[in-house]
Amino acid sequence: MARIEVCKVAELPVGQIKGAGEGETRVLVANVGGSLYAMRAICSHEGGPLDEGLLYENEVTCPWHGSVWDVKTGKCTWFNETLKDEPTYKVVVEGETVFVEV
Ligand code: FES
Repeated sequence: MARIEVCKVAELPVGQIKGAGEGETRVLVANVGGSLYAMRAICSHEGGPLDEGLLYENEVTCPWHGSVWDVKTGKCTWFNETLKDEPTYKVVVEGETVFVEV
């Protein structure tokens, strides 16, 4: 299991998203009401960067074609076709630093 350093806790306030990692292990961490959730940040539609999407409560919208994803479950909650679930990951906070285990 690999660990990806994402950011400092202070850089991820409620309602914000941070992306980290490269290629197939690009991930996002979202702060939903003070709890941190991580999922793969590569949209399973055509690979859009979900870490650059808008977060509203627990849902992030893909900036490319507008699919909506639940960051808690990795499931697509809205799109005009069925999309494969995204993997979710464990978030670890050590000291002031946020990591994701992939
Ligand atoms: S790439 Fe995300 S909706 Fe198309």
